[in-house]
Amino acid sequence: MPFPGETWLSPYLGTAVLCCLVVTIWLLRWKRRAALWKQVEEARRKREQRLERMQKVALTFREQNPGVEADRILSLPLVELSEELRNGSLPPEHVLYTYLDKAFQVNKDINCLTDYLQECESQLQEVKKQEKKGLLYGIPVSVKDSIECKGHDSTMGFLKNLNRPAAEDSVVVQVLKRQGAIPFVKSNVPQGLLSYDCSNVIFGPTANPLNHTRSPGGSSGGEGALIGSGGSILGIGTDIGGSLRIPAAFCGICAFKPTGSRLSQKGMVAILRGQKSAIPAIGPMARDVDSLALYMRALLCDDLFRLDSSVPPMPFKEEVYASSRPLRIGYHDTDSLTLATPSMRRAVLETKKLLEDAGHTLVPFKPHFSEDFFFNVCLTGLFADGSSTYVDNFKGELKEPYARQFLLMTKMPDWFKKLISWITGPIIPRLSKMLGNLVTRSVKEVWVLHSECEEYKREFMADWRKLDLDVMLCPMFGPAFKAGYPSKLSVLVSYTILYNYLDFPAGVVPVTTVTEEDEEALKSYKGYHHDWYDKLLVKATCEAVGLPLAVQCVALPWEEELCLRFMKEVERLTQRKQKHL
Ligand SMILES: *[C@@H]1O[C@H](CO)[C@@H](O)[C@H](O)[C@H]1NC(C)=O
Ligand SMILES: *[C@@H]1O[C@H](CO)[C@@H](O)[C@H](O)[C@H]1NC(C)=O
Repeated sequence: MPFPGETWLSPYLGTAVLCCLVVTIWLLRWKRRAALWKQVEEARRKREQRLERMQKVALTFREQNPGVEADRILSLPLVELSEELRNGSLPPEHVLYTYLDKAFQVNKDINCLTDYLQECESQLQEVKKQEKKGLLYGIPVSVKDSIECKGHDSTMGFLKNLNRPAAEDSVVVQVLKRQGAIPFVKSNVPQGLLSYDCSNVIFGPTANPLNHTRSPGGSSGGEGALIGSGGSILGIGTDIGGSLRIPAAFCGICAFKPTGSRLSQKGMVAILRGQKSAIPAIGPMARDVDSLALYMRALLCDDLFRLDSSVPPMPFKEEVYASSRPLRIGYHDTDSLTLATPSMRRAVLETKKLLEDAGHTLVPFKPHFSEDFFFNVCLTGLFADGSSTYVDNFKGELKEPYARQFLLMTKMPDWFKKLISWITGPIIPRLSKMLGNLVTRSVKEVWVLHSECEEYKREFMADWRKLDLDVMLCPMFGPAFKAGYPSKLSVLVSYTILYNYLDFPAGVVPVTTVTEEDEEALKSYKGYHHDWYDKLLVKATCEAVGLPLAVQCVALPWEEELCLRFMKEVERLTQRKQKHL
């Protein structure tokens, strides 16, 4: 047999070895992904089982108690429901099982639930033994995935967090329970939370209950959709850039973000731990403002101050919330980074008129929130580590398609980010600025950043005081974006994230709905920049006649009660107007 010379063998051998290597790598990768998908299947199966149990107990209860007035219970506002529960005219089991059933039903349409908190069944029995009935006696409460409930996962949409149940309830959940509330489900979030969409690989996408082709917003999107569709009456969410306010606005409900440390954040999981620029907050979502106030009133009690000493011992200021003194209200109808769409501006201007007619004083006040502040301060604040904390979370995970684009941007090495930023500079300046600010900063630069934030906050408060304002009326973006658009339009969070940087209380109240005229006016919207983002915003928000629009209400730090009182006034005037139409 002729012995082949090395000269002709090596290229074949080389190719063969290379092929083997590629195939092996591909096989290993395939095997790893198959294992991950198996975990996904397992997690989904577990969720199905839990939700089936939830339906079963609700059905059994209904069969044994045919007299339960489910429709009436579901239609009662929170304050009335809690009165009826506290004075004994409604038994708590009627309310809990009615909501279990409703939540199960709406979930079939919009996929908003991630977990059933089965222990609510035994907690119901505990609550019934309460001698002094708490302020939320017998009220079922839904909880965002990222807020810890003992014995349950807080996944943030990551497989690595499956089967790692919390050892303890978060402090807010503990206090709510002591006030008689019954947490009963956990709700869906976008993978990694840092998004205002609501989809992850494990539990899939949540749909907007008002139009299933639209996003419910995020990251507290499961809560927004669940409450918006009537499956829960009170929910807890979190907000680091708009995550309570955006889903509330998109789903037509109310939400409130307090000053970060007014409530305890113990037991709230987050993806970017350690950053000190954007201040996260934990807050309520509900159908009306009185519900938000009741939630704050119930939480601001000695139990909370004892369980978390970092919370200032300030009880709820009833006299501020109940006051009817006329307010001095600053307002503006667009921010300076992305021009508000016609419907957003109309929502602000109509609300301004209602407030004026009711005897309040309105003063134009526009935060000097420049593009510079958004890109250089806000973005850098979250990604000063060159986005490595964010990226690390996604390592070894199956990635949600919506998250991929941003992940791709954050994963690039610094030099490449700078290069692409330089190339895109003249074409898409806003994309260029975003990329340019995702690079690694030195400690010194971060200290400068923090002092810039402080300085900005001081100036902002000085301007506010100079005009002697009580509160501020601001635009809120909306209506609900078509599914898939939130991840492409992250620049819009400039409307909400400002108040996380300032750490001011801020809430949203729905005030109107999109009209045919708004649609028509939107067609000639060009924005400030006439760029890719401005065009996308039109595509994301068009064809929305009838969908809700909200405004944002803001107050100075620690003025939660004043902010809520202002929100209540906006809600009252809006409802009065709608009645008279
Ligand atoms: C309980 O409160 C509701 C709502 O305020 C009221 O309509 C009802 O009459 C009260 N029932 C009793 C037994 O006090
Ligand atoms: C739902 O939204 C889509 C666009 O996302 C729109 O085409 C459709 O007309 C809407 N449906 C209803 C019932 O409003």
